[in-house]
Amino acid sequence: MRELEERILKDGRVLPGEVLKVDGFLNHQIDPDLMFAMGSEFAHLFRETGVTKILTVESSGIAPAVMTGLQLHVPVVFARKHKSVTLIDDLYTAEVYSYTKKTSNHISISKKFLDADDKVLIIDDFLANGQAVQGLFDIADQAKCEIAGVGIVIEKVFQTGHQLIADRGVRLESLAQITSFDDDRVHFASEQTD
Ligand code: G4P
Ligand code: NA
Ligand code: NA
Repeated sequence: MRELEERILKDGRVLPGEVLKVDGFLNHQIDPDLMFAMGSEFAHLFRETGVTKILTVESSGIAPAVMTGLQLHVPVVFARKHKSVTLIDDLYTAEVYSYTKKTSNHISISKKFLDADDKVLIIDDFLANGQAVQGLFDIADQAKCEIAGVGIVIEKVFQTGHQLIADRGVRLESLAQITSFDDDRVHFASEQTD
């Protein structure tokens, strides 16, 4: 998505450890117009798949997920990373290890918001090693629901997440595909075909 790539080049900053800081429009301050446009793109890409629900993980996945749900007219459920204070729900839970942060988190979704006849679209802000997506696959499996696809705002294609999704035979659509941060510059897969 050209508009997103241009915004990454304009406002993104490459940090040590192959991390892209995009807190000016995605991870802290949010640009709602860009976010709406990204939701339109995901809705367009997945409209024919019969999605009944969108799944994401708090917190940065919520904005793109809601913008997609708005335009597909389906509910959005975000997995929580912290236990709810209302500990009355039956939960599906998965463990998510972050290679970036070297910590493990549990994510959970209340059983009442996922059914076996749901067909879910997973949306997230970043795809690095795919551990968050794997956690949502685990939860979808526990609920016995079908996975329509995975939509990612920014994919770092040099990391392993896409392989994990391909191994499962799930469709992956990424709005920006970063191939490297060589010379402290962001390189996109689209540059190779332009
Ligand atoms: P993985 O799920 O693909 O395995 O990712 P990883 O564990 O490596 O990433 C942990 C967190 O860091 C995730 O956010 C992920 O979205 C984010 N992340 C990964 N690579 C980048 C990057 O290059 N830039 C930025 N800005 N974030 C990156 P999280 O812990 O779930 O936090 P939240 O922002 O959703 O609350
Ligand atoms: Na995230
Ligand atoms: Na994040």
